[in-house]
Amino acid sequence: MKKDLGVIPAVFPMPVLMIATYDEEGQVNVMNAAWGMISDYTQIALFLGTDHKTTANIRKLKAFTVSIADRDHVTEADYFGIVSGNDVKDKFERAHLHAVKSTCCNAPVIEEFPVVMECELAAEIEVENMYAIVGNILNVQAEESVLNEKEKVDPQKLNALIFDQFQAGYYTVGEKVGQAWSSGRALIEEE
Ligand SMILES: Cc1cc2nc3c(=O)[nH]c(=O)nc-3n(C[C@H](O)[C@H](O)[C@H](O)COP(=O)(O)O)c2cc1C
Repeated sequence: MKKDLGVIPAVFPMPVLMIATYDEEGQVNVMNAAWGMISDYTQIALFLGTDHKTTANIRKLKAFTVSIADRDHVTEADYFGIVSGNDVKDKFERAHLHAVKSTCCNAPVIEEFPVVMECELAAEIEVENMYAIVGNILNVQAEESVLNEKEKVDPQKLNALIFDQFQAGYYTVGEKVGQAWSSGRALIEEE
């Protein structure tokens, strides 16, 4: 029997995305974002609070990168979600990670995260205290260590963090239990 839980964001899993930007002085900033999703084959949509340093940076410089946070960097990933570059000017330096400039957009690529999407701002839509930020994905880079023999990202090598919005836990991806566009065929073939 089901119980009513009221109005809560009941989607699981959520991603742990690292949004990296420059400000107008070239200072690197990174924030943690769970409210983000691929919205087309070449686009990503993020939902960012209006008061974040990241939001201001994206609106000014029209570029950002989105990395997937992995198990080895759970401390840094969470730190990027609880400290603001508006309050701590050297927020990024305090995490002791490394950044290089993207070759295709005006945003930093964080070296330690295994997969990164390099994006330009395509659209911004203001909704109450949030901006829906849509980015065109210009390129994706991945560490060789997370690729399989066909040069595809292997989720079991990636050790991506996932976020549980029910209890604010971080988890890692577990075993593979099916294949999309294939597992469901068992029911089609039954008919
Ligand atoms: C797990 C987690 C997920 C978060 N997801 C989002 C999000 O999707 N959108 C958002 O606006 N803030 C989100 N936040 C809050 C921001 O990361 C946080 O306010 C951060 O300090 C903003 O940094 P900035 O001001 O340097 O850009 C999240 C925080 C955590 C810990």
